[in-house]
Amino acid sequence: MPLETPTQPVNPRPAPSRRFCVAPMMDWSDRHYRYFARLISRHALLYTEMVTTGAVIHGDRERFLGYNPEEQPLALQLGGSNAQELATCAALAQEAGFAEVNLNVGCPSDRVQNNLIGACLMARPDLVAEGVRAMKAACDLPITVKHRIGINGRDSYEELCDFVGQVHAAGCETFIVHARIAILEGLSPKENRDIPPLRYEVVHQLKRDFPGLEIIINGGLSQLDTMTEQLQYVDGVMVGREAYHNPYLMAEVDRLFYDDQRPALGRIDVLNAMRPYIVRHLEQGGMMHHITRHMLGLFQGLPGARHFRRELSSSLHRTDQPLALYDQLTDDMSRRLAPRDCSA
Ligand SMILES: Cc1cc2nc3c(=O)[nH]c(=O)nc-3n(C[C@H](O)[C@H](O)[C@H](O)COP(=O)(O)O)c2cc1C
Repeated sequence: MPLETPTQPVNPRPAPSRRFCVAPMMDWSDRHYRYFARLISRHALLYTEMVTTGAVIHGDRERFLGYNPEEQPLALQLGGSNAQELATCAALAQEAGFAEVNLNVGCPSDRVQNNLIGACLMARPDLVAEGVRAMKAACDLPITVKHRIGINGRDSYEELCDFVGQVHAAGCETFIVHARIAILEGLSPKENRDIPPLRYEVVHQLKRDFPGLEIIINGGLSQLDTMTEQLQYVDGVMVGREAYHNPYLMAEVDRLFYDDQRPALGRIDVLNAMRPYIVRHLEQGGMMHHITRHMLGLFQGLPGARHFRRELSSSLHRTDQPLALYDQLTDDMSRRLAPRDCSA
């Protein structure tokens, strides 16, 4: 049966700025994390976890495409390689109001390789190009590709340029490049995020060789100064693990990357702003830890960080009064913080 392609509204959203992006992270960058991250930075471009085209088309739409409007600007990351299915999903993404559709060509998991999803597609630039072309034809959203600098057996700079060249010819103007290769056999996805060495210079060279393309660098960025330094060579940075484990780092992002001098919410303000969101989730039958598991790093590097983390993880599981624990913890942390930490 042919797939139904929804009618396309004209995309009303301005093109998102990708100077600072928060990476798609399966099981981590869910809607709760994104709501929380958005309280800390108004401008960072947030990405969903990868959703396969099959899940979008055949699964629960609200689960796979639903988000809170506050999360915008928000990009949907798709996993897939069938052009017609990608086109259907891109049109649905536009209908759902996403600011961008991103195709995952970086994930090395065996499970996805079997379905021609993720990093294995670096060996099939023709297929990626076909998918991009189909998505461009199906919607007005920017279509971007997140990929590696290579995969084992196909890791020369010429092959990387061939990939980028073919996908660009299909209409992709933005490439988010994880600056290490993926090794498709023998390493777990986690090892594939650490073991192949980072080679930022390859991404910088790509920008020099394709100056008209928007190139976003990703991988191993953990310090704000090294992130801003990257802007000398590329158009933006994408940060994953550091933005998850040390989320308050994003409090500097609006000032440093978007020239927005308005003060960010303080950490305690963030706790207070999350409270009504948590209450709503509880009222809908959700569990508090679905949300608070993403907040454990909020006080990273400050006195009381361990107390906060412990209370919000192990103690939370033992109480039948989660909100009372949350309020107590908010009080504890405001008392522990010097006044300057509350507001900065
Ligand atoms: C828990 C976890 C899940 C991830 N899931 C995805 C995913 O769904 N799609 C994707 O393109 N990359 C995924 N990644 C990779 C990140 O987007 C990013 O490329 C990688 O972590 C390197 O960036 P970092 O060093 O800043 O974390 C995941 C990473 C982590 C840690």
